[in-house]
Amino acid sequence: MCMSTSMGLKDIASRKGIAVGCCINDAHLNEGKYRSALVRNFNLATPEYELMHSQLCPTRGKYDFENADKVVAFALKHKMRIRGHPLVWQSRLNIPSWLARQKLSRSEAAKLLKDHIMTVMKRYKNEIHDWVVVNEAMNDDFKSGKFKLRKGFWFNRIGPRYVEMAFRLAHIVDPKATLWYNDYSMDEINGKSDAVYRLIKGLLKKGAPIHAIGLQMHLASHWNLDPKSVEANIRRFQKLGLKVGITEMDVRIRKPVTKKKLKKQAKMYSGMLRVALNTRCEDFSLWGVTDAVSWIPESHKGYDAGLILDKKYRPKLAYENLVEALNE
Ligand code: XIL
Repeated sequence: MCMSTSMGLKDIASRKGIAVGCCINDAHLNEGKYRSALVRNFNLATPEYELMHSQLCPTRGKYDFENADKVVAFALKHKMRIRGHPLVWQSRLNIPSWLARQKLSRSEAAKLLKDHIMTVMKRYKNEIHDWVVVNEAMNDDFKSGKFKLRKGFWFNRIGPRYVEMAFRLAHIVDPKATLWYNDYSMDEINGKSDAVYRLIKGLLKKGAPIHAIGLQMHLASHWNLDPKSVEANIRRFQKLGLKVGITEMDVRIRKPVTKKKLKKQAKMYSGMLRVALNTRCEDFSLWGVTDAVSWIPESHKGYDAGLILDKKYRPKLAYENLVEALNE
């Protein structure tokens, strides 16, 4: 099927019943090329950082939704579904510094957790119907092979129950919202995805309102993911009655970026899209669209070029391979 020039990934993907998403960075929404690359290709949006606790509430008791509102307005204007992300994330990047310093009793911490979840979800009750309630709660101790809930701000003050508490609170605020657990390095069947599977299965048994699992899929081009293992992992979560989505895919390349590495990157993108299609994932979402706007150079020193359009917004082989996989 020939693709008319105006068609982007979302148009071809819609025939396959899968949403194609991207994170959106409000700081670049004033750039025409950035806007049109998003509008042309995606029908699902995730604020890249604008809903982070540290961004929304840099000073105690004062929420500033200005940047998040920009992303939400842009997504709504272009009929993109929105996945609110993240409500609860223990990363130091996400916990406001005034909060990190607080000595809190368990009940004080639980009240702060509840206040934050309610404040954010209520504001977007009519606009956002999917929420990453808990992000990255499992540690990634592949060295020891012992996977357990990550220590951190909420774990240290509330204990392991903070995960279930967050989901129950979110469900009370919006009983109709789809509530996601989201994490990285749990794409294949491995020690971490096994630990998350056990955690979620146990919480579901207790009636915790968890509806979906997000596989972040932050990869490097020199890795070799086994598509069969990723498929089996997705299916086992689906067998628990959960939706599954690929939520933040990018494939960083260790510099120097070469043709060979770009080819491998393209193969990985289309390979994972085929897995998402075969397993009827909810969405196939990327953590950025152009190498000109990517968290990779900052967060992974020595890496670059992790996305599907180059720095001049030209389609890379990865983009073409995604189109090919969607047209199969
Ligand atoms: C990153 C954003 O890309 C940065 O802009 C921000 O400063 C920190 O967070 N896993 C996640 C995302 O769930 O929230 C992270 O996004 C990338 C790793």
